[in-house]
Amino acid sequence: MKELVKKLTQTTAPSGYETNLRSVIEEELKGSTDQIRVDGLGNMIVRKGPEQPGAPTIMLAAHMDEIGLMVTHVDENGFARFTNIGGVFPRYTAGARVRFLNGAAGVIGIEPHSNTSSVPALDKMFIDTGVSSAKQSPVEIGDVAVFERTFEDLGDRLVSKAMDDRAGIAVLIEAFRQLKKSPNNVYAVFTVQEEVGARGAGRAAFGLEPDLALVVDVTLCGDTPQNKETQVFLGKGPAVHIKDLGTLADPRVTGWIKKGAQRARIPIQTSILTRGYTDTYTIQTSRAGVPAGGIAIPCRYIHSPSEMVDVSDLTNSVKLLAALLSKPISL
Ligand code: CO
Ligand code: ZN
Repeated sequence: MKELVKKLTQTTAPSGYETNLRSVIEEELKGSTDQIRVDGLGNMIVRKGPEQPGAPTIMLAAHMDEIGLMVTHVDENGFARFTNIGGVFPRYTAGARVRFLNGAAGVIGIEPHSNTSSVPALDKMFIDTGVSSAKQSPVEIGDVAVFERTFEDLGDRLVSKAMDDRAGIAVLIEAFRQLKKSPNNVYAVFTVQEEVGARGAGRAAFGLEPDLALVVDVTLCGDTPQNKETQVFLGKGPAVHIKDLGTLADPRVTGWIKKGAQRARIPIQTSILTRGYTDTYTIQTSRAGVPAGGIAIPCRYIHSPSEMVDVSDLTNSVKLLAALLSKPISL
């Protein structure tokens, strides 16, 4: 599991540029799938087992993309200005290193400002690629970068950029490897463009017409000093995702997850996001509506270059999925 998470997090795949990651996932799933296709938007839709007529279709989803930056302007001295792709926070951006899709590296500098304890806005920052003229610049307008940060194995806990949502991708891959047989038609959808408004998942759901959908994404933790925002803790199990700014999870789906966890004796928590949203909302509101819910992986420091998860939450999420999928669904 650790090696898989490392491989996935270290792959560069900002929203709209998920191709690199798609090939990595395809490679990892070799031998564990019965059908792979990619839709027009770039979502990868993978089926486990033979198509069973009459059986309900379950859509699992995790997003491939990560937050990033896009160059908007390169000045005569080679400094690049940029705009955000997804939820990029200034406090994590100042001083960060970035890596472009073409391999070029850069550091984020900020304009001189007198109050050193405050963080200026992104438009007061620039990317320095180490050149002294626009002519030498390895990047041009429209080029895309992600935050560069190595993977750290801290024992029980793992740290990297892009745990959101490579942790979820790892869980889906591992669940597909472990799932032997299911009375349901099980599809895993590796979605695109979640970080810029959950644009991919709804389209995939439209094509797939699932009877039930389950999104695997990360959720905020409330277990750091002075943090009472949520009651989710690292290492205390996957969280049943019941609300975010786009979704109220279907209580029937939530109940189904809870019962499955009880049966399989897997510890679970409850995830309520008071900021942000997940793919759940565009899936739930696709076509005439889909019963949808989510399994949320506890994650500290979301959208920073050092997002932290606990390995046991990943392995328990895999177990929970396997337990849910191996039995007929009853809502
Ligand atoms: Co995110
Ligand atoms: Zn996410």
